[in-house]
Amino acid sequence: MQRLLVTGGAGFIGANFVRHVVEQTEAAVVVLDKLTYASSPEALEGLPPGRVELVTGDVTDESLVDTLVSRLTGPEDAVVHFAAESHNDNSLHDPSPFIQTNIVGTFVLLEAVRRHEVRLHHISTDEVYGDLELDAPERFTEATPYRPSSPYSSSKASADHLVRAWVRSFGVRATISNCSNNYGPWQHVEKFIPRQITNLLAGGRVKLYGSGENVRDWIHAEDHSSAVLAILDRGRIGETYLIGADGERSNLDVVRTLLTLLGHQADDFDHVTDRPGHDLRYAIDSGKLRDELGWRPAHRDLHEGLAATIDWYREHRLWWEPKKATVETAYAAKGQ
Ligand code: NAD
Ligand code: TYD
Repeated sequence: MQRLLVTGGAGFIGANFVRHVVEQTEAAVVVLDKLTYASSPEALEGLPPGRVELVTGDVTDESLVDTLVSRLTGPEDAVVHFAAESHNDNSLHDPSPFIQTNIVGTFVLLEAVRRHEVRLHHISTDEVYGDLELDAPERFTEATPYRPSSPYSSSKASADHLVRAWVRSFGVRATISNCSNNYGPWQHVEKFIPRQITNLLAGGRVKLYGSGENVRDWIHAEDHSSAVLAILDRGRIGETYLIGADGERSNLDVVRTLLTLLGHQADDFDHVTDRPGHDLRYAIDSGKLRDELGWRPAHRDLHEGLAATIDWYREHRLWWEPKKATVETAYAAKGQ
């Protein structure tokens, strides 16, 4: 039986991935997660017994990581590395945990997979490429030069470089994926889409940074999961694959859609202080993943995906409500 070690598997995308693996494969999963403020161990509850084990620990803990990686002895076994500090706004306030988890954590994992000759898939972001002009014809490809802007994106870029160096210098069997902005169930209320949905569900107001012209390329977390499974299954070792679902929208457009779906006037929102260094536009060309591995996204209608996500947050109030006050107090202190 295939065994996967999923770091950060109690976070938003990691937990969606673990659930997808349980539904789509026979694999057994061990989750290594520090259970930071961003985690949702609740997302792993109710999965079939024997399929998923949660180990609470830090990806920078060499001895723990070595022990867990040493158990991956089958030919199909692999580590899928999601664990990260993931929020740009937090990285501007305190970059330190981003350096520790995102860079040192990836180094510790690379050394363990090197020692035990285990396959690694490293999860990264399109933010390593910096940003694009709003009206530029191009999108990011695997050949786009790295130009990260924030402590978050530069820590992810550093980790990607480490992975490539370990492939080339030590023959580590690794692949990398850089995905665009995800949405879907279990996303923390600090992030753009869940923050606005839960603001409205809690009787508050939508908060848009700056003019809202910034563009993000939205993909459902389930499509990110199916792409990672395709890369694990058929991806070429040493290669990088960009993951995206042609979901470019301005923040203003997303805000108007959410307001309308929730029965408000489309322009009933607040403009708040912009994020320093705010990247203008991200856009992914996922042609390589589609042509080489035959992957296609299942969620192609963002309006429909957002409506389903709103329903999910309506039904999971007990999960997000306790997280809301701390997040909103921190944003309010920054004028956001
Ligand atoms: P998240 O913040 O929701 O979850 C991160 C998880 O990692 C949490 O469960 C947290 O407890 C865990 N973690 C943090 N530090 C750890 C440590 N030191 N040791 C072990 N576990 C630790 O993040 P997410 O949005 O699910 O992102 C997951 C991955 O996907 C990240 O690598 C991120 O860079 C990447 N990514 C995210 C997006 C997005 O839109 N959210 C897009 C592309 C790529
Ligand atoms: P975010 O979810 O933080 O993702 P990222 O920084 O990785 O793109 O933000 C998505 C976009 O939404 C980004 O352009 C910043 C913007 N934004 C707002 O306009 N208001 C908000 O309250 C938040 C959290 C983000």
